Amino acid sequence: MQNINDVRNKLIAQVAVSDNPRDLLKVPEFKQLYSVISTLPVEQRGAYGKSINELKQALEAAILSREAELEDATVEMIDITAPWDVNTGQQNLLSTEQGTQHPLTLELELIVDIFTRMGFEAVESRQIDDDHHMFGSLNFPENHPARDNFDTFRTEEGFVSPAHTSTMQNRILIEGKAKLEAGGQIAAVSYGRVFRNEDLDATHEHTFYQYEGVFVSKDATLGQMLGTLRSFFEIYYDQKLKTKTQPAYFPFVEPGLEFAIERPAALNGKPGEWLEMLGCGMIHPNVLAAAGIDSTKYRGFAWGGGVERLAMLKYGIEDIRHFESGKLQFLRKFL
Ligand code: PHE
Repeated sequence: MQNINDVRNKLIAQVAVSDNPRDLLKVPEFKQLYSVISTLPVEQRGAYGKSINELKQALEAAILSREAELEDATVEMIDITAPWDVNTGQQNLLSTEQGTQHPLTLELELIVDIFTRMGFEAVESRQIDDDHHMFGSLNFPENHPARDNFDTFRTEEGFVSPAHTSTMQNRILIEGKAKLEAGGQIAAVSYGRVFRNEDLDATHEHTFYQYEGVFVSKDATLGQMLGTLRSFFEIYYDQKLKTKTQPAYFPFVEPGLEFAIERPAALNGKPGEWLEMLGCGMIHPNVLAAAGIDSTKYRGFAWGGGVERLAMLKYGIEDIRHFESGKLQFLRKFL
C-alpha cells in the first residue's frame, strides 16, 4: 500500500509537467503494481486492487487536465496574423511587406460613403446577369443597334457579364415600389465590376468599375439630379467645381445627358478643359413600366459613371490598365 502511495505521488507530479502525460500510464512502476496482486494473500487482494483502481482514476483525471492545459497553451501560442513565425520564436523567417487595399476598393468605399450620407442605399452590382436586366428592362428593343455600344460578353448559355451597373436598375425599382406607394421614395446607389469586350488602350479596359444612382419620387426633377451630382463631385474632389451637361443618348433615360466637370487647376487643368464624367438623365417611362411603376404618378433620374476615371483625374494616373495590372510599383503608391 505504501508503494501505491509513493507511485501515486511521483506519477501525479510528473503528469503535471509532462508534454505527453498519457505515456505515464505505461511506465514500469505503474505496471508492476498490477503484477504484485498475484503474490498477495487472497484476503488482501480486494483492498489492494481497489487502491490501484483509485490510483488509475486519479492519474486519468490528472492526465486529462494536463492535456487540456497543453491544448490551451498551443492555441495561445499561434498568432495567425503574425508576419513571421512567432510560434518558433524566430523572427523574419519570411521577409514581409505591409499590404493595402486596392486603390479602386478605397475609391469605391469613398464614393459609396458620400452617397449613403446623402441618403442613398448601397447595393452591390452583379458580375453575371441576363439579357432582360442588362437590356430588355432598360428599353433596349430586341436587335437595336444601341446594344452594340455596350460590347457585352455573353456565355454560351445566354447569360451576360454586365457592361454597366444599370443592370441593377430593374431590381432596384421593383424592390423600391412598395416604398413609393407608401409615400416614400427610391434612393439607391449600385456599384461594382463591369465588363466590355473592347480593344484595350490607355483609356479602355475590359474590366472596370461603375457607380450608379437611381432616384424615384412623385416629383423628381432634373435640377435635383444636377445638384446631387455637383455635390458629389465637389465632395469627392474636395473643391468647388464648374459643371455642365450636353445631350447624349441612352435608351433608358429621356432626356439623356452627359455630365462634365471643368478640370480644376489643382489637378493640372486649364480653364475650358471639360471632362465627361458620367451619363445620366430622367428615367424613361418604359423603364419604370418594366418594374410595374406608374410613370404618370412617379418620376425618377439615374446616372452611371466609371470609378477609374474619377481616380485617374484625382491621382494623375495616365493609363487605366494600371488598375488591373497587379503591378506592385503602381499599388505601392497607395500605401
Ligand atoms: N449605363 C450608362 C453607361 O454605362 C450610364 C448611364 C447610367 C446613363 C444611368 C444614364 C443613366 O454608359
